[in-house]
Amino acid sequence: MAAPAQNTIRERALARGIDLDRLPKHVAIIMDGNGRFAQKQGLMRLWGHRQGYRTLKDVLLSAANLGVEFLTVYAFSAENWRRPEEEVGGLMTLIEEAARHELRGLTENNVRAQVIGRIHEVPSTLRNALEEMTSSTSHNTGITFTLAINYGGRAEIVDAVRSLIEEGVSAESINEEMISERMYAPSLPDPDLMIRTAGELRWSNYLIWQSAYTELFVTDTTWPEFGEEELLAGIAQYQKRTRKFGGLA
Ligand code: FPP
Repeated sequence: MAAPAQNTIRERALARGIDLDRLPKHVAIIMDGNGRFAQKQGLMRLWGHRQGYRTLKDVLLSAANLGVEFLTVYAFSAENWRRPEEEVGGLMTLIEEAARHELRGLTENNVRAQVIGRIHEVPSTLRNALEEMTSSTSHNTGITFTLAINYGGRAEIVDAVRSLIEEGVSAESINEEMISERMYAPSLPDPDLMIRTAGELRWSNYLIWQSAYTELFVTDTTWPEFGEEELLAGIAQYQKRTRKFGGLA
């Protein structure tokens, strides 16, 4: 007799041995390799970013349907301004288009979208689209989807320290909790699992304060080629780890 069809991602996860009660609550992703994916096929880097956008939609839906509560992706780093003007402009346009076109889909899927980064520095048309996306999805109660745009982990820590100084907090009263509370999205829990595509073994200034005890999953697959199967592979590997947070198992 044929095995019953596995229709939902939760069923497929179960079939793979994933414990649905121990999913990572917060998954963060460094979506790397768009350029390499395009170049492998002799196409423009921006085409690779467009394919990456498609992957992002699929992975967001997969994570939401699986039951992940928070998904945070690195869409544009504070260092990405160093790329050629054409690529920077293309990425800004792509993110703006995405924010505008996906509004309905985000709400239909009950996604609450928000942005972290120095958003006051991005072009005003993009900023407006992001503000619209954030405000019109703020009452949704499903997965929280956070886009890191013009984001740098060190800049975030600098901004938190500036806030503390502006508030007149005394040096001796500062503790880790107070810094966490001044991160761009203080209600985001620390990531449990960080996925990096395209093989590089580094953090690239992403969520460096929040990732002190995050489990890392690196795959050689480029971001446009990433999908449900590898998301589940990352989660399965995460569930095999023993998290000690500096203590004993
Ligand atoms: C890294 O690949 C990827 C980025 C710098 C941008 C990520 C952007 C997207 C996935 C586009 C869609 C995003 C939204 C929010 C619509 P890379 O260019 O560094 O690749 P490479 O290392 O192969 O050159």
